[in-house]
Amino acid sequence: MGDKKVALVTGGGTGIGAACVRALAAKGLRVGIHYRRSETAAKALLAEVGEGFLLSGDLGRGEDIDAMVERLHAVAGRLDILVHNAGVALNAHISAMSMEQFDEQRLISRGVWYLTKRVLRRFMLRSNEGRIIVISSVVGSTGNAGQIPYAMEKAALESFVKSLSKELAGRNILVNAVAPGFIATEMTTVLPAEVHERIMAGIPLQRMGRPEEVAEVVAFLAVAGSYITGSVIHVNGGLYGG
Ligand SMILES: NC(=O)c1ccc[n+]([C@@H]2O[C@H](COP(=O)([O-])OP(=O)(O)OC[C@H]3O[C@@H](n4cnc5c(N)ncnc54)[C@H](OP(=O)(O)O)[C@@H]3O)[C@@H](O)[C@H]2O)c1
Repeated sequence: MGDKKVALVTGGGTGIGAACVRALAAKGLRVGIHYRRSETAAKALLAEVGEGFLLSGDLGRGEDIDAMVERLHAVAGRLDILVHNAGVALNAHISAMSMEQFDEQRLISRGVWYLTKRVLRRFMLRSNEGRIIVISSVVGSTGNAGQIPYAMEKAALESFVKSLSKELAGRNILVNAVAPGFIATEMTTVLPAEVHERIMAGIPLQRMGRPEEVAEVVAFLAVAGSYITGSVIHVNGGLYGG
């Protein structure tokens, strides 16, 4: 506990989330690293950044979110910045995807909504201050074959950001999304080769992005960007202009 601002990054043990943890810690924030399964990676990252804490839970489960918020209160006593980074991308054409897979995908946006609701009531609406940043995806704007529920979910999250920013205007709480294009992480290594080639062909900068290139925008929205709210910032090498 203390005067230092506190940030929480969901899915902070891996990929873009881990890069966000490093970037926020470099800005002098005390960062909570949330993980579900990647405990080893999360612990190693905490050791690397030095100061901070760990939180675990499945964001598809309301009771896990309740427990996370209580632990956050106990270990940090405040929350200034919430980065909703955790996500899954289930890849299959509509004819090959089951209702259960669709529901699994949709649980992420429900978790974003519920964690935000709990964090607002416990911390940000009391302190009258906060930054909420959602990691979306370019496919929320462009759509993508083989990713219908994922693209639907990211579009819904961008709508969530726009609506929530209006609800919180006047409370000194800014809400934005960062929409990465094609970033080199675990999530993109599992894409089929033909999908990978098709996407690469459409990127004017002719390369995948690095997690750090997304994280630096997240860090800017976390500590600067005081006149930006309700926006979707695209980070995609020219793939889509927004
Ligand atoms: N890579 C890209 O090209 C790209 C492009 C656009 C957007 N994004 C978005 O960027 C974000 C991070 O993705 P990434 O590429 O860094 O992939 P990643 O390494 O697979 O990270 C996904 C993270 O989400 C967490 N997670 C998934 N389901 C969860 C659940 N039910 N409860 C709690 N945590 C859960 C995972 O935690 P555990 O490992 O601990 O289970 C993992 O840390 C995602 O929202 C993704 O949609 C990625």
